[in-house]
Amino acid sequence: QDLDLQRTLERYRETLRSFPIGKGWMTEHLVHYQGFWLAPKAALKGVIWIQDRFKARPTDIVLATFPKTGTTWLRALIFATINRTRYDFSKHPLLTTGPHDCFPFLDAYIYENDQSVSNLDASPSPRLLSTHIPYTLLPDSMTNSSGCSFIYICRNPKDVLVSKWLFMNKLRPKELPPLSLQEAFELFCQGISHYGPYWDHVLGYWNGSLETPTKILFLKYEDLKKEPLAVVKRLAEFLGHPFSLEEESMGVIQEIVRLCSFENLSNLEVNRTSAQKFSRDIIVDNRHFFRKGQVGDSENYLTAEMIERLDEITADKLIGSGLIF
Ligand code: A3P
Repeated sequence: QDLDLQRTLERYRETLRSFPIGKGWMTEHLVHYQGFWLAPKAALKGVIWIQDRFKARPTDIVLATFPKTGTTWLRALIFATINRTRYDFSKHPLLTTGPHDCFPFLDAYIYENDQSVSNLDASPSPRLLSTHIPYTLLPDSMTNSSGCSFIYICRNPKDVLVSKWLFMNKLRPKELPPLSLQEAFELFCQGISHYGPYWDHVLGYWNGSLETPTKILFLKYEDLKKEPLAVVKRLAEFLGHPFSLEEESMGVIQEIVRLCSFENLSNLEVNRTSAQKFSRDIIVDNRHFFRKGQVGDSENYLTAEMIERLDEITADKLIGSGLIF
């Protein structure tokens, strides 16, 4: 086993040495690996570990997202839906635990040490996991017809860009000047963003969901905002735990939606004052995961030319896919 780990780490170091480097949004530069831009430690190392060593189970439920598309929200909704008979809503773990602490983020797992991997292997089924890794970079053991189940959420690219730009500026070391919207826009359009190009990320899961619809539930942030009850119902069906008529009449779906709402989560003490430790040096204040939570806010930031260019790229990329934003 140790020898296997050494081989994986060697493949990581070799990849880091030999693959093209792009610009960064922070101090760290992104590496271009198998068609996607990845942060060297947090993402590339995780991808290589998952490709080489992750032991997928058919019962695994994986939340897959591109950053800033609704990960925090969907994390909370999945956790609350699957555990709805286990916890009382008035004493729910989500009232005192940040959504990112509810289940593991796979990409950062290997980053710490091999011990955490053993913990993952020892976790009982069904495991709830999350990742930002593009579908086409996942190993066959995860994506084949007896692999994991995925829940994916996408969001209008303009809102993703603005959300990411504002988020990155909050995390950027204070000694660096803020990243201008123009710089962020250029990077995003060129596809150089964490786990980007965004459109390729979305299309990977979209195409996967067309090939194996029973294995990938493909959601949109905008639909979740518009019809949260209907989407949470679909989510429960996909998870194999549909709401009973009794649960529906008792208002359980409404309770879950209310518990996980932006207004509720963002005002909780844990999400205002605590931080989420993803790994040794990736620590993010929970409050940064809650900004505005609205559809179309990007129009308050982007110029008409920026909107036009992003819309053009989106139309070009999605042509013939059947997917529209
Ligand atoms: P905005 O920056 O547009 O407000 P992620 O969780 O993938 O990092 O995405 C963060 C985005 O989701 C932010 O968008 C954040 O405000 C929004 N968000 C977080 N929690 C939410 C919730 N419970 N309901 C709706 N949106 C939420």
